[in-house]
Amino acid sequence: MPKVTLSVIKADVGGFVGHSSVHPELLETVREHLTKEGTFLTDFYVTHVGDDIELIMTHEKGVDNEEVHKLAWDAFVAATDVAKKLKLYGAGQDLLSDAFSGNIKGMGPGVAEMEFEERRSEPVIVFMADKTEPGAWNFPLFKMFADPFNTPGLVIDPSMHKGFDFEVHDLIDNKKVTFHCPEEMYDMLVFIGAPGRYCVRAVFSRTTGEIAASSSTQRLNLMAGRYVGKDDPVCVVRCQSGLPAVGEALEPFARPHLVAGWMRGSHHGPLMPCSMTQCNPTRFDGPPRVVALGFQISSGKLIGPQDFFADPSYDNARMIANHLSDYLRSLGPFEPHRLGLEDLEYTTMPDVMKRLSGRLLPID
Ligand code: 13P
Ligand code: 13P
Ligand code: MG
Ligand code: MG
Repeated sequence: MPKVTLSVIKADVGGFVGHSSVHPELLETVREHLTKEGTFLTDFYVTHVGDDIELIMTHEKGVDNEEVHKLAWDAFVAATDVAKKLKLYGAGQDLLSDAFSGNIKGMGPGVAEMEFEERRSEPVIVFMADKTEPGAWNFPLFKMFADPFNTPGLVIDPSMHKGFDFEVHDLIDNKKVTFHCPEEMYDMLVFIGAPGRYCVRAVFSRTTGEIAASSSTQRLNLMAGRYVGKDDPVCVVRCQSGLPAVGEALEPFARPHLVAGWMRGSHHGPLMPCSMTQCNPTRFDGPPRVVALGFQISSGKLIGPQDFFADPSYDNARMIANHLSDYLRSLGPFEPHRLGLEDLEYTTMPDVMKRLSGRLLPID
């Protein structure tokens, strides 16, 4: 059997209304495009989380394939035309270039891909978040693949007991390093505890060497003096048989962690797990949200989805996220609700500094 590639590619090409959701006509346009032009795909599923369109695709062309990336790019361009016609908010927001140039990475859209030999049974989870950044996956990926309090399989499953390798990327210096866990866990945490700069790109089984998880972490582009490309991320996790059980992969989201994003991409907030029917962030353009769709892959076909966070057992997580939101919102423009100066997506600081320049006096 040829290997299967699972490619999840996402972009925000216009919000409906504001940054809260995607207009159905855009989703229809994208589906039509993939049906017509993507005949080489084995299967696809199109959805959205908040204002981000998500293309979940299977094929046999491998990762970083030009044809697959171009298909996604062209689908987003077609949807952008509709977004412009409807005057949706930020039409074409994530298409940073005028023309496709061979690989969609670094051009705005987010990409998480993996190629693997389909196992006897191949359960996967596609995690998709809005109003946050790729570093948001560091905490849950650490818990899934390195924390025995989350994943008892690390202790009691002989096919997981050797642990996992984490490929971590430095988004500023464009370097990568692989940590072998559990023994290098403390070294790794020095880095991935700073998710604004160091992001888990992929996780591999140390028993089989197989890929277990892949995220949309990618190098940032320095454009007009600012780093761009840290956008609403996706992550794919394979489950069971030597990998975390589905429930072990979902468990980290039962206690919302704080992520950067939310209003104007400039605030910390809790990552709220929610169902497809609850995935349109509104309060203060948030709080940041994550959806988990499960699929069984069968001869490359996507059997599903299963909307995991529709489960009422995540109600407490949502309640905690709402309490945390109330608290953080009460801090208003103060850190740590507002991001530190370095990480703000919007800032008036240079203007204010210029105006005050004559009034800035040395302290004696
Ligand atoms: P089953 O015994 O239902 O297959 O479950 C095994 C498992 O991995 C549960 O997490
Ligand atoms: P998106 O990154 O989801 O477009 O949100 C941007 C924003 O400014 C929300 O307030
Ligand atoms: Mg938007
Ligand atoms: Mg978004």
